[in-house]
Amino acid sequence: MTTTMHTYDQFPFDIVDGHDAYLIDDQGKEYLDLTAGIGVCNFGYSNQQIKQAVADQVEKVWHITNLYQNQLAEEVAEDLCPAGYQAFFCNSGTEANEAAIKLAHKATGKHELVAFNYGFHGRTTGSLSVTGYPHIQEGFAPLMPAVKMVPFNDPAALDAITEDTAAVILEVIQGEGGINVGQADWLHQVQEKCHATGTLLIIDEVQSGMGRTGHRFAFEHYGLEPDMITVAKGLANGLPVGALLAKESVAKHFQPGDHGTTFGGNKVVMSAAKEVLKQLNPEFLATVQAKGDWLFDQLEKKLSPLEAVTGISGAGLMVGIHLADSLSVGQVIQALHKEGILTLSARGNTLRLLPPLIVDQADLDQAIDKISQTIQQLSNADQAVAVK
Ligand SMILES: Cc1ncc(COP(=O)(O)O)c(C=O)c1O
Repeated sequence: MTTTMHTYDQFPFDIVDGHDAYLIDDQGKEYLDLTAGIGVCNFGYSNQQIKQAVADQVEKVWHITNLYQNQLAEEVAEDLCPAGYQAFFCNSGTEANEAAIKLAHKATGKHELVAFNYGFHGRTTGSLSVTGYPHIQEGFAPLMPAVKMVPFNDPAALDAITEDTAAVILEVIQGEGGINVGQADWLHQVQEKCHATGTLLIIDEVQSGMGRTGHRFAFEHYGLEPDMITVAKGLANGLPVGALLAKESVAKHFQPGDHGTTFGGNKVVMSAAKEVLKQLNPEFLATVQAKGDWLFDQLEKKLSPLEAVTGISGAGLMVGIHLADSLSVGQVIQALHKEGILTLSARGNTLRLLPPLIVDQADLDQAIDKISQTIQQLSNADQAVAVK
């Protein structure tokens, strides 16, 4: 029995230290981290500039209220926003999506939302309403009533977007949903239908953004132009942050008193975000792109031929390795712990890799071999049991 609520089934070790792309547990065991704290610690655990920026800010002032001007938040917003957008800072991905939903209602005067099966947008009541998993919503009814939940990548889903729709919310690569990659044509059709019906397009970049796929935002791969973008996770390399970015024409509908947060734009968090954005420059993004291309090539060569692997999906350093039903992803994750590798799962028996973006290519290479061996050993063991 613990004194923290049982909201997660936790592995029986405590991570107490880290360096580069490695984490160390309370028994002194070292792991190559292919999780980045679920896509958060993109610059790993030794980035001296980020550490120094935070340390310098801690020496000055940690927190002010949003009643005073915040030059640091202003600078982060200027760097983070595409031209013609404005930012609202909050503390998490779910809060960024809450802000987007509220702003969509206020800006359009409409209340219907369209969202997609297996899209994940968070667990507060508004974002949970647009999260496409009945089992995650179960027990929390009534949620927001006017949400149409439709299949992802399905042309028929376009019919759900009408003149009554305030906003469509989607991830261009569904992360928790199993690394489901959106089809370019379909995404453009969704955007066109939004334009034709006066509907706002919200792209949730909480998992796929901040360089994860080799662009700052994954929608850049597709040339989309969302009305709103939500980000969080990697923005401050592990300090809690979220942001809603909205086109100025939409953002102007939030006026004083409409929305707020005590901690959003917190000085310490912004000091980390400012340094993250400085380092997330085109040269760095090109290294992520190149590492990602190499990684997918290796995965195709080394993992695709395995009987227990039914597919590989993703982009950049956002990877889904889809396993056959005969081999549970939980088993693979636990076996990899023994090998000193941390990985994640996603829906649909998917082994998910979200390494820190600074991960060493040679380390990744060794990890792929270990993942391949582990999958083969577990499949062979399963077969041996089946033969008995
Ligand atoms: C795409 C996406 N949106 C929103 C969220 C919620 O973010 P947070 O856990 O910071 O509230 C997540 C979390 O995994 C996510 O992957």
